[in-house]
Amino acid sequence: MNHSAAGPLLEVRELTCRFGGLVALDRVSFAVQPGEIFGLIGPNGAGKTTLFNLISGVTPATTGEVLWRGEPITALPTHRRNRLGVARTFQNLRLFDGLSVLENLLVALQRQPRSTTLASLLNSPSHRQAECQRLEQAWELLEELGLAALAERDAGTLAYGDRRRLEIARALATRPQLLLLDEPAAGMNPSEKDSLCALINELRQRHQLTVMVIEHHVPLLMRLCERMAVLDFGMRIALGTPEEVRHDPKVIDAYLGGAVA
Ligand SMILES: Nc1ncnc2c1ncn2[C@@H]1O[C@H](COP(=O)(O)OP(=O)(O)OP(=O)(O)O)[C@@H](O)[C@H]1O
Ligand SMILES: [Mg+2]
Repeated sequence: MNHSAAGPLLEVRELTCRFGGLVALDRVSFAVQPGEIFGLIGPNGAGKTTLFNLISGVTPATTGEVLWRGEPITALPTHRRNRLGVARTFQNLRLFDGLSVLENLLVALQRQPRSTTLASLLNSPSHRQAECQRLEQAWELLEELGLAALAERDAGTLAYGDRRRLEIARALATRPQLLLLDEPAAGMNPSEKDSLCALINELRQRHQLTVMVIEHHVPLLMRLCERMAVLDFGMRIALGTPEEVRHDPKVIDAYLGGAVA
């Protein structure tokens, strides 16, 4: 792989997060290159979601730095990072269950600073045009994610896999450069997991995304990712290609056991 000319899209340096006496992340460092699919694995409580929270700005870092294209963004609030191009999904889905699938997407698309309040009050032509565009974009995303036929359904009534894909659609609505997926395959059956893998690859191509994925299903992650990091008790115990990580004695000891041997 040769991404070196452009430099990393995202870098974390010595990132640490403490909750009282608990060290959820302990001086974690790595860089993610533009266009790559970067995996994150580790046992329950290893700090994976916390790392996404620190990258997206949901939780403040105790010490250490998050760099976006080489510039520190550690102090920026979530919406500023989102505007720069960071979007995420949540392990515990955050959909509006009482709204339809389409409405869930429209809400996400509304976050774009496209139409001003004044324009909307006046129902100006520019506002109406923006509304049309928003609807068009929503339908495009629904089709891409295979949700178009479910557009009118309440999000709360969807099957698990569809809910996960709706969360991804919502994240994509903000036109991110970096997409953070927290256990996107959780609750899916093996064939759904396979299609999700293919979908993530397609989305990366079509939207020119860089993707970070947290996933417990190690074989799936190894197939999907170009590189991965392994966390254990908040520490990065391994970093490399799936092949390198698979043979790392520390990883085998701490986490993988016989699972991939
Ligand atoms: N807001 C919080 N306050 C206190 N402790 C927290 C908080 N968030 C996370 N933790 C703790 O930090 C540690 C790391 O949690 P985290 O959710 O990042 O793990 P994880 O790797 O995502 O685990 P899982 O695979 O179960 O999702 C855990 O011990 C957790 O209990
Ligand atoms: Mg988690």
